[in-house]
This record gives sequence, C-alpha cells and structure tokens, in this order.
Amino acid sequence: MRLISPHGGTLVNRQVTGPEREKLIEASARMPSLKLNARAISDLELIANGAYSPLEGFMCQADYRSVVETMRLANGLVWSIPVTLAVTEEEARALREGDDVALYQGDHLLGVLHLAEKYTYDKEREAALVYRTTEDAHPGVRALRAQGDWLLGGRISLLNHPRDLPFKEYRKSPAETRALFRERGWRRIVAFQTRNPIHRAHEYIQKCALEIADALLLHPLVGETKADDIPAEVRMRCYETLLSLYYPAARTVLAVLPAAMRYAGPREAIFHALIRKNYGCTHFIVGRDHAGVGNYYGPYDAHHIFDEFEPGELGITPLFFDNAFYCRSCGAMASSKTCPHDATEHVTLSGTKVREMLRAGKLPPAEFTRPEVAQVLISALREEPNQLSTPR
Ligand code: ADX
Repeated sequence: MRLISPHGGTLVNRQVTGPEREKLIEASARMPSLKLNARAISDLELIANGAYSPLEGFMCQADYRSVVETMRLANGLVWSIPVTLAVTEEEARALREGDDVALYQGDHLLGVLHLAEKYTYDKEREAALVYRTTEDAHPGVRALRAQGDWLLGGRISLLNHPRDLPFKEYRKSPAETRALFRERGWRRIVAFQTRNPIHRAHEYIQKCALEIADALLLHPLVGETKADDIPAEVRMRCYETLLSLYYPAARTVLAVLPAAMRYAGPREAIFHALIRKNYGCTHFIVGRDHAGVGNYYGPYDAHHIFDEFEPGELGITPLFFDNAFYCRSCGAMASSKTCPHDATEHVTLSGTKVREMLRAGKLPPAEFTRPEVAQVLISALREEPNQLSTPR
C-alpha cells in the first residue's frame, strides 16, 4: 500500500551505521567540537530520522533567508520555520567552513556537522517575519534573541542517539510510524499536535476527525516548551489515562514528537503539518490559535496561512476546526459552526480559573475536562505545586 510521500519525495535518513560510523567516531576525537543545547539536540535527532525531510542538516544561508522571507526553501519547496544551529561569535571564529565538527550532548558524542557555511543573520527580521512580532515577551522571540549571533549550516551525520531521553516506548521515528500504518492498512491517518493536557475541546475535534479517517496519531510535542506550560511527563499520564478509557485502541496511536515548541502560530502550523506528513499522516488538525501564545495571533490566522499555498504543495490536508465548547442547550460538544445558542449556554473556563480549581483539589466541570484527566493534574500539583500552569 502506498503511503503519502515525504516532503520533497524522499524520507531523509542521516543516521550513520556500520564502518562509516566507526570511521567518523574515530575521527571525531580530532575534530573541533561543540556542545549542543536541548533544542539543537532535538533538531539534530529530527533531521537525522527524517521528520524534517527534505532537510539533511542545519540550514545554510540561502535556505535560511528564503525560508524567513518567502516560507520556501531556496529550491522553492514550502518550509516555514528556520532550522538553524546558532553559536557565539567566539565559537564561530574557531571553526572553518569545510570542517567536520563533532557534536556533543555533555560528554556524549551525538554526531558530526559537515560545516558548509557560517554566517551572521538578522534576528529582528526573523522575529518580525516568522513570529510576526519583535516583542521580548514572546517566548520564541526571546529564545531567538538569547541564542548566538552566528549560524552554522551543513549536513549532519548522527552517530549516537541522545542519552537519557524520556518516553522511550513512545518514541517512534517517521520510518516506524510509516511501517505501522502500512501494516495496519490505514489510508487516511489524521495527526493531532498538542502541548497541553487533552480537554474536552481537544477530544471533540480529534473525534470529529476520526469519524472521517481510519486512524488518529496523537502526537504530543515533548521537546522544550515554555516554563509555564504543563510538563510533558504529566501530560503523558493524562494522555495514557484518557486513551485507555475513551479512545478506540485499534484506531489510535500515541507517539511523541521531540521537537521544541516555537510558539510561531500560523508559521508553526505549516511546519507542524509538514512534519506529520513525514510521519506518514494524510490529514492534520488545525484548531483555534494553533501554536499560539498570548494575543500575538488571531484565533484563525493558522487556518488562513494555508491559503497562501496550493494544496498540492503541502501534500498533507489540513482539517480546520473552530473554537469548540460544551453547550448546555445542545447537550453536546459543539462550535459556533454547529451551535445556534447563546454564549451563556457554553461551558468555557479561563486557564486561570481551571488552575485555581485544580490547585484547590477541585474537579473542573466534566464538560470541560474529563474527571480522570483532572485527577492526574490534581495529583501532579500535589507532588510539585509549581508545575501546573494555564491549560488553554
Ligand atoms: S498547540 O500549541 O499545540 O496548538 P494545544 O495543545 O492547546 O496548543 O492545541 C492543540 C490543537 O488543538 C491545536 O490545533 C489547537 O488549535 C486546537 N485547539 C485547542 N483548544 C481548542 C478549542 N477550544 N477549540 C478548537 N481547537 C482547539
């Protein structure tokens, strides 16, 4: 059975094995080296396993500029978020184009960057175009300002997987999810991105999508998120609980996406969709304020951005959902598209209110969060009082 093609046509695999790996490991002792931070490590892993196909490394200048300015790689292929390796000026000066650079997680060798280019870049321009704001209060802009002033571009070779990664049983590479989908004979697979516990609104849009698909890939992002997002360990417990009680096991797959959250709203929605296409999904859910933060993006900007491309250019089909809620008069979950009643009939809670209730050990209304999920959040809060933030 034919699955959807990866972006660019070929699933990239930059994981080196056998004698080539042995050779690079031996040579790495004589290479200049760099220690990577958590974000760069996750990007390295996702380049290597093909989640970022067609990227084979960190972006060189032509791709970087083109992505920032036009949402396309230099060859014209759609790509909306820069995938770059930032270093300080001092680190950049110590390296020469053409060098092989050994990449480390602490003292653990991860791989090699075949350095093609080092270059400076305009952070303000990247902020304005990618994040649509230059405000420091935006977590993506803040991370951009905090990183080094030089970028290193070039293909990478992964020699060893990062160490001590959580959620081992849920770490499936694009090759693995594709093999699984093929084995099950699924044609229409819908992916769901999330960085939050699953509330009823999330569940509703997933299940609406599942009505018209063969299977759901629940694909929570577990890379770096901002400090006040709910930690991935807690969220994973919520997902496991919810899935075991309310989802059809034969048509649902839970796997993690180790990418860092950029909070780039519309641009990140495109990025998230392309990544899920590489994992073999045919459809991708985009709801209200996808990958948004604060009030930087309009609630449906992440829908509108898809109009800027021809459907065939993306390959994967977005499924758009309006703000979902429980309506007392309908006696069901609904959205403004399906519910004729007044907003006073809708069960909506602010993040602050939900947090307050959970802190006090109180269950939010079952129409908002399943009690079994709320219980996981309440217990997590008891263990670690500072770790619960604003569910949206
Ligand atoms: S995100 O940063 O990963 O987008 P979150 O985990 O809250 O944050 O959202 C996951 C997906 O559900 C996104 O597509 C988002 O747009 C959608 N979503 C979240 N809440 C709602 C809601 N109340 N109604 C409709 N869609 C929603």
